Amino acid sequence: TFSDAWEKEWVYSQHPGKEFGKFVLSAGKFYNDAEKDKGIQTSQDARFYALSKKFTPFSNKDKDLVIQFTVKHEQNIDCGGGYVKVFDCSLEQTNMHGESPYLIMFGPDICGPGTKKVHVIFNYKGKNLLINKDIRCKDDVFTHLYTLIVKPDNTYDVLIDNESVQNGNLEDDWDFLPPKKIKDPEAKKPEDWDDRPTIADPNDTKPEDWEKPEHIPNPDAVKPADWDDEMDGEWEAPMIDNPEYKGVWAPKQIENPDYKGVWVHPEIDNPEYSPDPELYYKPEICTIGFDLWQVKSGTIFDNVLITDDIATAKKYAEDIWKPAFEGEKKMKEKQDEEERKAEEAAAKDKKKDEDDDEDEDEEETTGKAEEHEHDHDEL
Ligand SMILES: *[C@@H]1O[C@H](CO)[C@@H](O)[C@H](O)[C@H]1NC(C)=O
Ligand SMILES: *[C@@H]1O[C@H](CO)[C@@H](O)[C@H](O)[C@H]1NC(C)=O
Repeated sequence: TFSDAWEKEWVYSQHPGKEFGKFVLSAGKFYNDAEKDKGIQTSQDARFYALSKKFTPFSNKDKDLVIQFTVKHEQNIDCGGGYVKVFDCSLEQTNMHGESPYLIMFGPDICGPGTKKVHVIFNYKGKNLLINKDIRCKDDVFTHLYTLIVKPDNTYDVLIDNESVQNGNLEDDWDFLPPKKIKDPEAKKPEDWDDRPTIADPNDTKPEDWEKPEHIPNPDAVKPADWDDEMDGEWEAPMIDNPEYKGVWAPKQIENPDYKGVWVHPEIDNPEYSPDPELYYKPEICTIGFDLWQVKSGTIFDNVLITDDIATAKKYAEDIWKPAFEGEKKMKEKQDEEERKAEEAAAKDKKKDEDDDEDEDEEETTGKAEEHEHDHDEL
């Protein structure tokens, strides 16, 4: 969580050539608890942000790993990251930047209507691997809880607001390893493999009376009375579509007696494949950071938790996220309602002013008598 002393624990990057934005401590414009709901908020538009915090290094060997935090895009974000990155101890915090190697990147990313997803990226043997699944993120203005659970049996679970939105096997959903099976490079479709389900009937022949011209002279046309062969040339009836025209003849299709079905390329074990029973494993987890670009600032991050205990993470969901979410929603609804009323009142005032103006104009021409009618209108 973030208290007044947060800046003592977190380190801003000073990577040269970039003007990084500042985070400020804030609960935002609507919240459940003005103190407890304070997080760090991006405060400058169109900036990069790079901030990190180190902790006692640990390994997730044979343990669950949970990465969890809350994100509140209360500015109604148009384009910007809302994710965290987890690093080993080698990160030079004051030089952190977009290319700094990380272990895991996790969280929402929004840009326009096209990109609204949750990233789950693992670095594996020097490569950043994106999840092969689409996970949609929340795009409203409220606080949402993002949780990634990685288990030592190489399964994972992604939760938003304490509900699983994607889960499965690491090996299936990222390209950690080459495929287990490949098409046998030795196998080839036999030359005489017939994969045509139907063929043209060789016994079908074109009927003798088939050929008819596509267009014929209109039999109903008559030569105009004033047609002068000498002047106008020989008269010809205009052409029309021939009702007897049958189109291009094609033999009918029959089942192919030699059809063998679709040829399936046989597969063999991929010699490049070797299983890795420790896809989940990170020997040294040491730093968490925000490395973001935001067009419209105002996102509040809070409740950052890295743990090996799923129950603790769930308890946070119960004790911290849920009340914050419900409380801020009520406050926002109240604010919106008040705003609506204020707008209504302002519109009314404006209308009254206009009516008064009209009254004044009319008084000049028609005198006092009309005034009562206008009062009536307003009622
Ligand atoms: C074509 O006709 C011949 C003779 O009637 C017959 O033996 C043959 O099976 C027919 N072929 C097909 C494909 O129907
Ligand atoms: C979170 O999910 C668990 C089930 O995994 C459920 O028992 C608990 O009530 C949920 N808590 C909240 C705050 O939704």
